[in-house]
Amino acid sequence: MKIIEAQNLVYKYPDGTKALDDIDFSVDKGSITAIMGQNGAGKSTLFLHLNATLRPIQGTLYLKGEAFAYDKKGLHNIRRTVGMVFQNPNDQLLAPTVRQDIAFGPKNLKLPDPEIKQRVNEALRLVGMEAYADKPPHFLSGGQKKRVAIAGVIAMKPEIIVLDEPTAGLDPQGCSEIIDILDELNAEGKTIIFSTHDVDLAAKWADSIYVLHEGRIKRQGVPSQIFADHAMISQTGLRLPAFVQTFRELKLRGISGSDSPLTMLNFVESVSKPFDVLKVRCAIAGTDVHSGETVGMVMKNGTLYTKRIETDMNTDNPGTSTTAMGKVMHDARAGEDIVVSEMTGTLTSNTGDIHIVPIPRIIEGGSRAVDLEAIHAIISTPGPKKIGAMGTSAKVVVRKAGIKCDFEVDVIQSSILAALRGQNVVVFATGGMVDRVIQKIECNNKQGGQQIKYSSLP
Ligand SMILES: Nc1ncnc2c1ncn2[C@@H]1O[C@H](COP(=O)(O)OP(=O)(O)OP(=O)(O)O)[C@@H](O)[C@H]1O
Ligand SMILES: [Mg+2]
Repeated sequence: MKIIEAQNLVYKYPDGTKALDDIDFSVDKGSITAIMGQNGAGKSTLFLHLNATLRPIQGTLYLKGEAFAYDKKGLHNIRRTVGMVFQNPNDQLLAPTVRQDIAFGPKNLKLPDPEIKQRVNEALRLVGMEAYADKPPHFLSGGQKKRVAIAGVIAMKPEIIVLDEPTAGLDPQGCSEIIDILDELNAEGKTIIFSTHDVDLAAKWADSIYVLHEGRIKRQGVPSQIFADHAMISQTGLRLPAFVQTFRELKLRGISGSDSPLTMLNFVESVSKPFDVLKVRCAIAGTDVHSGETVGMVMKNGTLYTKRIETDMNTDNPGTSTTAMGKVMHDARAGEDIVVSEMTGTLTSNTGDIHIVPIPRIIEGGSRAVDLEAIHAIISTPGPKKIGAMGTSAKVVVRKAGIKCDFEVDVIQSSILAALRGQNVVVFATGGMVDRVIQKIECNNKQGGQQIKYSSLP
């Protein structure tokens, strides 16, 4: 179902600037849509139409199939359904304290006081700004202001969240945290529309991308379609995601792959098949080795080891097969890092399992509803493993339990990559994110490569 739609939208600013021209735009309920385009392309102007701050001079907007009504009742309905995080948080944060600012929207919805309080606390927790609740917003850093602005929208519980450059000005960790929060909201069913100049983010996170250029829609499609259109990408001043660029370079050097990759996982898949063309690999010496010696190679628990062919190869663990060989480039003792060249053959690792541990969302009691002892029991089962946490509640639980997390960013992809390298992974996933992990693993398994086993613990 199309939750929000615009047809033939035209907008001119009072000074005569035509900022939008014949825009057709539609968004599926529950999807993530990215709008990209150069400075001045019209992204913010389009967004200001989505919550009826601006009214088109031509064309129509539809919310759940009904044309926007701009009377008092209509505007109330639009603003309740479409939450907007402005490009500049200073345009949004006006109250004397962070807490009052976040409460502003829910108050306008005329909610009862206890409910307002509860929503404000929940939103503060979700964006990790509880400690700043009583500070004036103008004393906060740019990234902190952005979090508060997002909290203000979360507290309104809108079905559609529109964010104008949500990650601009954030540090890498802050950027991942914001995306994680939005991902969690999306897993709960919220529709997300955002603008960004970050091509890597749009490529890996958006379901659908619109490219705006000089007020018009230049192209719309899924990320793989958008980033396959190299001519359009350069005409509109965008660039290819880093993985696509790297992939193209490798392809020009004879390392072929199938489709252009959009994530690290795709990328590894696309270059790991023709393994024997990778001439030099780093490994760990299984025993003392000498320059020029030919050794076998095994992948064990996520690390590549060399093995003496005549002595060690027969004692490999079952499930770890090696038909790969290479020449050691320098003398090394057992346990030292070495460089191996002239690799031939293929290297198959035993695949690790992924255990998914569901963690209730904050509104379902969050980390307080979790039995920490049970968590410790899961973690302390023998064998090396990687640990990931997705979503705020899961991260809180992991921290509370004193568990060191390996993945807090790009958790699904990192977990699949680790499992493919032979490591077992435990993923703590908040609420609806469990289904998302399972979906991605099944999608990997369907592609026919190494099959990853997974289980979802109660
Ligand atoms: N209030 C205004 N009055 C007149 N022209 C405006 C106004 N706001 C924006 N514009 C013009 O409208 C066009 C689109 O601007 P808009 O802010 O929508 O671009 P944008 O894609 O959001 O750019 P950015 O990436 O820099 O945020 C630009 O040419 C801009 O100069
Ligand atoms: Mg803008």
